[in-house]
Amino acid sequence: MKIIKARDYVEMSRKAAHYIAAQVLLKPNSVLGLATGSTPLGTYQELIRLYHNGEVSFIQVSSFNLDEYYSLGPNHPQSYRYFMDENFFKQVDIQAENTHIPDGLSPNPDGFSADYDRQIANAGGIDLQLLGIGSNGHIAFNEPGKVFSAQTRLVDLKEHTIEDNARFFDSKDEVPRQAITMGLKSILSAKRILILACGENKADAVKAMLEGPIDPALPASILQLHPNVTLIADEKALGKLSSSNS
Ligand code: PGA
Repeated sequence: MKIIKARDYVEMSRKAAHYIAAQVLLKPNSVLGLATGSTPLGTYQELIRLYHNGEVSFIQVSSFNLDEYYSLGPNHPQSYRYFMDENFFKQVDIQAENTHIPDGLSPNPDGFSADYDRQIANAGGIDLQLLGIGSNGHIAFNEPGKVFSAQTRLVDLKEHTIEDNARFFDSKDEVPRQAITMGLKSILSAKRILILACGENKADAVKAMLEGPIDPALPASILQLHPNVTLIADEKALGKLSSSNS
């Protein structure tokens, strides 16, 4: 895994945005795998700035988001569809019909999930997948467990994740207990993966991802099997790496 150090969140976001913009410049009809959460927000802001400067266009891009809370509709301010529309899609020239996010209100999550994987495959797979990492080592909502799960599916969120994400809701009770998440096969099938990490609370997960065994207890460790992963992280997130990596 290639590691790119950033001084802070602003520099991480700038470097990530340039990485994504370069991908789109070289392949204007790129299929992007996109992520939500506090980590990629600055990257989207920087991409919007590049778009307004005429440095990148998303007109031919299509996108597939990693996950969505199950039971939140697109108008709920904490739904990931709402996040993406407000923080990125509406502010650039991507075509709404080319954006895909799991349907948090699907009455048939199993059928929906299988169809989502088919749609990604039919689009030719993901060219560049953007990822964050949970402080428990999850990627998307692939939570720590006894086995890795390949397919997109409905999952129960771990208590740790519910607590981490409670900061976005009025109270912890309002955090949905389930989500539809892209499975590890669609994520790992991406041609390139860009993973971002910022802050001390990610340092243990980053260390285990890079230096630990490939273990479903730390889902991000499976990225060790992918030939083209770049981690852009600030000094705090890299703070616990052994000296050979840092
Ligand atoms: P965060 O979430 O960006 O809000 O820290 C990361 C994740 O859970 O993947």
